[in-house]
Amino acid sequence: MANNFYLLANWKMSQTLNGALSFVRELNLPRQPEGFYTAIFPSYIHIADCMKETNRAGLQWGAQDCSTEKEGAFTAEISAAQLAELGVHYVLVGHSERRQRVLESSQSLEKKLSRVLEAGLEPIYCVGESLEQRKAGRVEETLEEQLRVLRGLSKKPILAYEPVWAIGTGLVAGQDEIQAAHRFLRDYGAAVLYGGSVKPQNVEEILAVEEVDGLLVGGASLKQDSFLKLWEKSQQVFLKRMGRAHG
Ligand code: PGA
Repeated sequence: MANNFYLLANWKMSQTLNGALSFVRELNLPRQPEGFYTAIFPSYIHIADCMKETNRAGLQWGAQDCSTEKEGAFTAEISAAQLAELGVHYVLVGHSERRQRVLESSQSLEKKLSRVLEAGLEPIYCVGESLEQRKAGRVEETLEEQLRVLRGLSKKPILAYEPVWAIGTGLVAGQDEIQAAHRFLRDYGAAVLYGGSVKPQNVEEILAVEEVDGLLVGGASLKQDSFLKLWEKSQQVFLKRMGRAHG
């Protein structure tokens, strides 16, 4: 268990500009305890506008991807340095939707991780097995393979364990499955988050696994009420854990 807790909202391509702006305008988070971080990952083109709409202390921002390159003639690309300039804290690297859809190679993921660190930002490196890999008993082998890109890095990133079969499907990994994967991953990351169909209805069960240092949430982060419920539950668990650690 890390000392910090991260609640990260990955909005993917699911919000309109108006939807994103009204979400952040109305978001009224109480003060957060030290070590508890809440961040929203809007579409690139919405980040700056969203930031202007809120001055909530403690709310952080993330980007869903970045370029492998530092700067230059790379049409339509966005660099980690440009994201840092905006005031973004985190960048997702290796989300399974990108691994699958744009066939991101290990080489490109390795470059992105370095770019993010060079820009002084925190990478959230996503890993996770497919259902076939799980059924074939190849979970650790798959994770190990995905972790190889971390070898040359100057710093351990935050990891997000997201079993591919649990993303956007309503299927959630069981506690034993989550615990085993998180134990396997914890030496490789500064913290290990869980992602995949997290909802207010299942969050307590997921966070009962002590090794889970936070959540990467897609669908359930799009609506204020479910996001706030996740926030409240996460915070309760975080405070309880801190109380135990210090008491
Ligand atoms: P989901 O997405 O919560 O909608 O399953 C999680 C993710 O892709 O990060």
